[in-house]
Amino acid sequence: MCGITGYIGYRDAHPIIINGLKRLEYRGYDSAGLILYDGKELKMSKTKGKVSDLEKRIKKEITTTGNIGFGHTRWATHGVPNDVNSHPHFSESENLVIIHNGIIENYDTIKIELINRGYTFKSDTDTEVLINLIEEIKKTENVKLGKAVQLALNQVIGAYAIVVFDKTKPDEFVVARLGSPIAIGIGEDNKEFFIASDASPFIEYTKNCVYLEDGEMAVIKIDREIKVRKIQDDSLVDPDILQLKLNLEQIEKGGYDHFMLKEIHEQPKAIIDTFRGRMLVNEGLIRMAGVDDNMQKFLNAKRIIIVACGTSWHAGLVAEYLFEDIARIPVEVEYGSEFRYRNPIINKDDIVIAISQSGETADTLAAIKMAKEKGAFVFGVCNVVGSSIAREAHAGAYTHAGPEIGVASTKAFTTQITLLSLIALKLGLANGNVSKTDYHSYLQEMELIPKKVESLLEINDKVKYIASEYKDAKNMLYLGRGFNFPVALEGALKLKEISYIHAEGYPAAEMKHGPIALIDENMPIVVIATNKGHYEKVVSNIQEIKARKGKIIAIVTEGDTTVKGIADHVIEVPETIEAFTPLLTTIPLQLFSYHIAVMLERNVDQPRNLAKSVTVE
Ligand code: F6R
Repeated sequence: MCGITGYIGYRDAHPIIINGLKRLEYRGYDSAGLILYDGKELKMSKTKGKVSDLEKRIKKEITTTGNIGFGHTRWATHGVPNDVNSHPHFSESENLVIIHNGIIENYDTIKIELINRGYTFKSDTDTEVLINLIEEIKKTENVKLGKAVQLALNQVIGAYAIVVFDKTKPDEFVVARLGSPIAIGIGEDNKEFFIASDASPFIEYTKNCVYLEDGEMAVIKIDREIKVRKIQDDSLVDPDILQLKLNLEQIEKGGYDHFMLKEIHEQPKAIIDTFRGRMLVNEGLIRMAGVDDNMQKFLNAKRIIIVACGTSWHAGLVAEYLFEDIARIPVEVEYGSEFRYRNPIINKDDIVIAISQSGETADTLAAIKMAKEKGAFVFGVCNVVGSSIAREAHAGAYTHAGPEIGVASTKAFTTQITLLSLIALKLGLANGNVSKTDYHSYLQEMELIPKKVESLLEINDKVKYIASEYKDAKNMLYLGRGFNFPVALEGALKLKEISYIHAEGYPAAEMKHGPIALIDENMPIVVIATNKGHYEKVVSNIQEIKARKGKIIAIVTEGDTTVKGIADHVIEVPETIEAFTPLLTTIPLQLFSYHIAVMLERNVDQPRNLAKSVTVE
């Protein structure tokens, strides 16, 4: 949820940290802070608000420079967003300082104990409790910082990624993780190190990177190789040094006004990147190591349970239709948060597919850990390479969508559906539920999807015009059936999260069971009415809406004449196989939400109260 970044080396730390915070601001943006060690003193500046507010404040408050420092961008859990609760936090003596991403659940009891020992607290945060616990242990046990951090972390319950610094020993950082990511960038000859929640803050400086595993900590010292240990038993770990493939261009806006718009436009390429090297149309082959190597398990599976949250859950719902229709395997789709606490029945021959863009969503991660314990085989569908869910799964496949920075998921959704379509087809062919001829038609059609998405992006101006007509609506309904029911949910989610207009998605036939009461001349209703998939029934729903004077924005197949005659606005999408329609119908709905949010002057890339990667439950 929060973003953390740090630097220790020979360069001026200040710009590295600020640029890093800007790249991580998608993770949390209710407050921000920075601390620099200038060789003698720690200089700190922190504020409620955005990194840009922090920059203004730093101008007034920090005049010196330094080669060591770290910064934080916050998404509040304990304590309201204000200057005092912003990170970093000092210990009582002000020798130790910390930044933290996560939650310390037992902070209350620890705080009471520390208060009894004379500690005072300036903020309402769990983080200030942790740094004082570290200080207390360092003092009473007379141990070095690394040991004190380790002992303290063995007392806390919760999730964390932390960076700790001791100004009395200013040549090292101690970092640790449990449930929240930490990447360490290693400079040439260990002359400098970078720390961040993901690798984006340091890609222009180094490609060598270590991702700490859950339950690991590291002491990072200039001129020395990083030492990674297990927090629980102190055993040394040989860290895997990875070569990053990310480049700077991928994480910049590239001429677009917002990351979201850039990412919407990246979808044709992202979909190609998802099937590139996997889908060999001429050979009639789908290659996917994670599935190929475990084919027998998939073929023996009595059911597939999909766990995910938010937009990824919507992709899971599309996958339910895909797997059941194409491969005839029963599917259940679960919210990670409900599944993990429901004591679900999981059998050894169940396959659990976790879908997550970030690969860090706490509820999804906890759900798959539980499923593993109960003996299920877990398959991860993630975008972020090396993320926690990707590592925790027994096998998996990456979507290869590239970095998604806008908080509202766009290309993550369409690439998840692309990947899941390939898996469904692979399984359907292997278990005999798809004929060779149909399988070929699916592959040929999938190859055409990126071009069709491209053609949809060209109707941007038309969608913008329709958006201008409805930007002042207070509520909207989204209706769809079959494969397009999850698209209705996703369309409504996109609208509410970035424009703050209340919107709900429903299966079109459910309208009669309640939502129809809401319809009057002030209610805009987006209806997905493509020519396959219960078209006539959806047309009847449209008639029912019209009879009650509702305003209809219909997503139809090119050449449709029936709905055109009834709806207030129609947006045409190219013809495709029914199972692939979500890949097309989603696009205008993304653009529609985007334009409304821009017209309402919302912060499109960083909507209020949201964070890109929800690493707390
Ligand atoms: C909505 C959105 C969220 C995420 C959800 C899961 O636009 O972005 O609903 O889809 O938080 O995140 P991941 O996919 O990273 O597990």
